[in-house]
Amino acid sequence: MNLKDEFIKYFVEHGHVEIPSAPLIPENDPTVLFNTAGMQPLIPYLLGEPHPKGKRLCDAQKCVRLTDLDEIGDKTHHTFFEMLGNWSLGDYFKKESIHYSFEFLTKILNIPIERLAVTVFEGNNDIPRDDTSAEIWKSLGIPEERIAYLGVEDNFWIAGDSGPCGGDTEIFYFRSKDEIPAKFDPEDDRWVEIWNNVFMEFHKDESGKITELSQKNVDTGMGLERVVAVLEGVTDNYQTSIWKEMIEAIEKVSKKTYEGNEISMRIIADHIRTSVFISADPAGIKPSNTDQGYILRRLIRRAIRHAKKLGIDMTANWMEPIALEVIKKYENYYKEIKDNKEVVLEVLKNESVKFNRTLEKGLKEFDKMLNHLNGNIIDKDNAFKLYDTYGFPIELTEEMAKEHNLKVDMEGFKEKFQAHQELSRTASKGKFKGGLMGHSEIETKYHTATHLLNAALKIVVGKDVHQKGSNINEERMRFDFSCDHKLSDEEKQKVEDLVNTWIKEDLPVTMTTMSKEEAIQSGAEAMFIEKYADIVNVYKIGEVSLEICGGPHVEHTNLLGHFKITKEEASSAGVRRIKAILE
Ligand code: SER
Repeated sequence: MNLKDEFIKYFVEHGHVEIPSAPLIPENDPTVLFNTAGMQPLIPYLLGEPHPKGKRLCDAQKCVRLTDLDEIGDKTHHTFFEMLGNWSLGDYFKKESIHYSFEFLTKILNIPIERLAVTVFEGNNDIPRDDTSAEIWKSLGIPEERIAYLGVEDNFWIAGDSGPCGGDTEIFYFRSKDEIPAKFDPEDDRWVEIWNNVFMEFHKDESGKITELSQKNVDTGMGLERVVAVLEGVTDNYQTSIWKEMIEAIEKVSKKTYEGNEISMRIIADHIRTSVFISADPAGIKPSNTDQGYILRRLIRRAIRHAKKLGIDMTANWMEPIALEVIKKYENYYKEIKDNKEVVLEVLKNESVKFNRTLEKGLKEFDKMLNHLNGNIIDKDNAFKLYDTYGFPIELTEEMAKEHNLKVDMEGFKEKFQAHQELSRTASKGKFKGGLMGHSEIETKYHTATHLLNAALKIVVGKDVHQKGSNINEERMRFDFSCDHKLSDEEKQKVEDLVNTWIKEDLPVTMTTMSKEEAIQSGAEAMFIEKYADIVNVYKIGEVSLEICGGPHVEHTNLLGHFKITKEEASSAGVRRIKAILE
């Protein structure tokens, strides 16, 4: 039985429309690196915007969670996973939701009711105890002693600090050969959570205030890996049918058995699978030293280090047969995996060739460091040397240090790292003049035009317009901003005129490097302040715009030509999108 197929089939039969997984890398939310839950791409619709596919949806959403990165290597953690989910957007609520879950588990998956237990929200000062859910469970045959009432920590769900939220009911499965205790104890880890039904009827704003949403929603999430392990009766997720071929491929290239080498093999399997998905994503991520690119680099390099531990021949293209198994497993579900197969294999190969050049020497250097330790700490100079000269992500050095019961001077490393970044920024500015930065001339112009557009919107539409996202390619710029109404023709015209006036005035564009604090005090506009390093670049355009930005920008505005808005449309709830060109 294939859980993913059965899940979708069941919910489609019950009036849901299957929607494709959103990309792993969110298109419109630079505050997060990856989608971490099935509901994340659906936030605007949970808040009330009508979804084009209707009010009942289901899918398998690709997710990456990095909070557990250090735990990869154990039996149950993964960086990439698929979350199965069904949603009601203001349609059915608790009763149907619980009935569907119960029927799917007991009738389709044939899980005996004796193995099930549930938790429900015990309530707090704002929200009463969820007796409704408890009663529904009881009506289905779940006895009172198999229902536990828990507080906000366990039974209230929200993605991050603000947004749509609500109490939830979680379903547990007794995963053990022991006799099943009559009373359910959620602290007893033989009971594992398999499904979460969230009743999203509230909105929490940034100040923490809770209000009712205009509609009552259901958001459910079931971790595919865990349920497959339950169904297949194993406690090690990597021994399920999901991982079988990948683990076998690793056994083959390493000429070792899984037994006795579990940790390294799990890390390799997990990290290669996640790397395949990240590099196949439409965002076109390549290994680099920032954001998603850095995560990709870290995963690949950590997999390589563990492959070396297993004695795999580093000169062979050993990652490819493993990656091919991942591709084979998922290409029929996720089109981008099929379409970008060659890109993925290239990324893995290139990054591995790159790291192999320095890996051997770096490991020797690390051993040398062990012989000249000052206390039980790898000092900042050595940690930085491993990073800068040998390409060891700092987390890799930390992991190696831990294996020798050592620590790394992380604070010191960060200081050195930042000082180094300043130097390379200056250097890359020089390089950019020679066109080496990877931004074409036209893209650079669009960057500058983006700042002018942002400033013009603030004048024409209102001071509380803020940038929510931006995307530039050779053909056009796209700009998302907070705004509660469709722009009128007059507003669009005014914005266009203002930008064109500033272009004609040939305003100078200047850059100053300063601390984040200073930048904020000087009133610089910043999209997501917590995302920036402590030292930032602030770009000033005449007296009209001041923004924290990584650049690059043109030196004066009349290089931009003529600015024209080609489209203005809704992007998500409370966010509008402008597409514009320079002619
Ligand atoms: N949002 C909930 C979760 O991620 C249910 O989908 O667990």
